[in-house]
Amino acid sequence: MCQTALHPFLAALPKCEHHMHIEGSLEPELLFELAAKHGIALPSPAVDPAYASVEALRQRYEAFTGLDDFLGYYYVAMSALVDASDFERLAMAYFTRAASQNVRHAEVFFDPQAHSARGVSLSTVVEGLTAARERAERELGITSILIMCVLRHLPPAEGVALFEEARGAGYFGSGSDGEERDQKQPVLGGIGLDSSEKPFPPALWTELYGAAKEAGVRRTAHAGEEGPAQYIVDSLDMLDAQRIDHGLRSVLGGDEAVTDALLRRLVDQKIMLTLCPLSNVRLRCLESVADFPLRKLLDRGVRFSINSDDPAYFGGYILENYCALQEVFNLSVREWESIAKGAVMGSWCADRRKWEILQEIENVAGEWSVGLGEQ
Ligand code: HPA
Ligand code: ZN
Repeated sequence: MCQTALHPFLAALPKCEHHMHIEGSLEPELLFELAAKHGIALPSPAVDPAYASVEALRQRYEAFTGLDDFLGYYYVAMSALVDASDFERLAMAYFTRAASQNVRHAEVFFDPQAHSARGVSLSTVVEGLTAARERAERELGITSILIMCVLRHLPPAEGVALFEEARGAGYFGSGSDGEERDQKQPVLGGIGLDSSEKPFPPALWTELYGAAKEAGVRRTAHAGEEGPAQYIVDSLDMLDAQRIDHGLRSVLGGDEAVTDALLRRLVDQKIMLTLCPLSNVRLRCLESVADFPLRKLLDRGVRFSINSDDPAYFGGYILENYCALQEVFNLSVREWESIAKGAVMGSWCADRRKWEILQEIENVAGEWSVGLGEQ
């Protein structure tokens, strides 16, 4: 637990999470349990000592050398997810943890291609995740949507085929881009693009994103995590992405002229960045949380949310990310209130749900700012 005076406020603050890979919430305990359940052999500890125990694996997760090193462990761990009940259990564990940190709405990524490659069908994954989503809403009061990600290290045509499979199954309903067009929430709320960023530039994905746009499906894309600021620009120009996941290089891109114009554009078009400070440190995109460009984002008025990315791997869930920032930047209640509200406004839930959460945030921030003597 962080030692800041605001810790109880940060815990109580109603939150929205937009950048969380459900497979990245697979804790080592559940990984070993599911591998045993299905008789799946993890790599031998003689080959990789990280697989000797839960503790050894956790320790290895503290020493990633970069995105691809992490992704190696991430894809191995997924091999333990086999039937719909595994996905339901995984997602319920996340929703339960998120609810305990006052997440009120979560937009959750999943990677179907990493499962279909092992013979686990899209429908199996969707069935398990949907069961968890419905239970989480009923039992925990968390609303959520699922965002289907395409792996950028695989051929673009396979991503298009996956999109067509999901569309053919009716998972996108009549589209997710409009405001509750047919009242009924589609099974999937959008598409995303993840996995190794370099050397897979946005230009490879124009067909997929064009098809999604045409079908009225919402679009986000990882960009500017390890890749250059230009990947963010191209994701907006070529893919018509409506949100950018990470987008760190929009601020720390090196070329001041490019980043200045990009930041202005993000503000003008209200494009939200879904940022993940603990992930950035673990994957060595940043040396420390102190290098996270929080002040610049606030000063420039960029819309962003703070997220956990792959919480089982990066040392914390959403609250630990909020706390890590607070320990360094010592924000006020009002500043956190504005971050939390920005996250609501950038969400893809219905307006009605946004107003509910905004009201909850105002109530909590109001109580705490009075309690702490802030204006
Ligand atoms: N970046 C890219 N792909 C991912 C990540 C990430 O941080 N986590 C899971 N897939
Ligand atoms: Zn991510």
